[in-house]
Amino acid sequence: MEVIIQESEQDSCVLAARIVASHVRAKPDAVLGLATGTTPIPFYQELVRLYLEKQVDFSRVTTFNLDEYVGLSPEHPQSYHAYMRKNFFDLVNVPEKNIHIPDGMASDVETFCSEYEREITDAGGIDIQLLGIGHDGHIGFNEPTSSLSSRTRIKTLTRQTLEANARFFESGSPVPHHVITMGIGTIMESRTCLMLAYGAGKAAAVARMVEGPLTAAFPASILQYHARAKVILDRAAAGQLTLTEYFEWVYRNKPSWQRP
Ligand code: F6R
Repeated sequence: MEVIIQESEQDSCVLAARIVASHVRAKPDAVLGLATGTTPIPFYQELVRLYLEKQVDFSRVTTFNLDEYVGLSPEHPQSYHAYMRKNFFDLVNVPEKNIHIPDGMASDVETFCSEYEREITDAGGIDIQLLGIGHDGHIGFNEPTSSLSSRTRIKTLTRQTLEANARFFESGSPVPHHVITMGIGTIMESRTCLMLAYGAGKAAAVARMVEGPLTAAFPASILQYHARAKVILDRAAAGQLTLTEYFEWVYRNKPSWQRP
């Protein structure tokens, strides 16, 4: 696991966007795994900026999103379809036919999920999977005790996640209890995992992910087992790590050819 500590949230997002853009320049038909939530918003803003400056072109890229709420149509303002349109797809040139987001309205969820897995395989697998971390260690919506080899499926959100996500819903309107999410096994097959976290509120979760034991009770800890996991943090999110000095030393001494 490569842990990169940046001074600010903005610096973290600029670096993450640079990594994704340089990957797409090297492989114009790259397959990107995308995430939603608060964390990726400034990352998408930076990626859109690079696109508008013609530093990256998404016309041959394929995308797969991690998750979607069950019961929300793509038009629902709190759906992840709507989030992705607003924050990324309406602003760049990913072809509509190359965009994949789990269908929260699927009538046969199991068949939909196996089909989603098949589409990822047919696309050649995910090159870079963007991730955020939940306070309980979830990645995608793989809540604690999710099988470490799970595939795309329906999951029930924990009370903690429901409460955390209620901020996106109008007061009184309920947060759906179920989601379709890529599994941990699906995420682990991505060639690179790119985790972003910032703010002191994420510091405890980041420390458990990076330095805690590998356990299904804290799903993000599985990234310790991934051959190419990059974790980009601002200083506040790195605040509870014990190996900070080592991580900074490694990053400072990285050979120039390894930098994006
Ligand atoms: C979103 C997702 C979740 C979020 C996590 C952190 O697609 O899969 O795992 O990354 O809940 O959310 P934020 O960024 O809102 O703190």
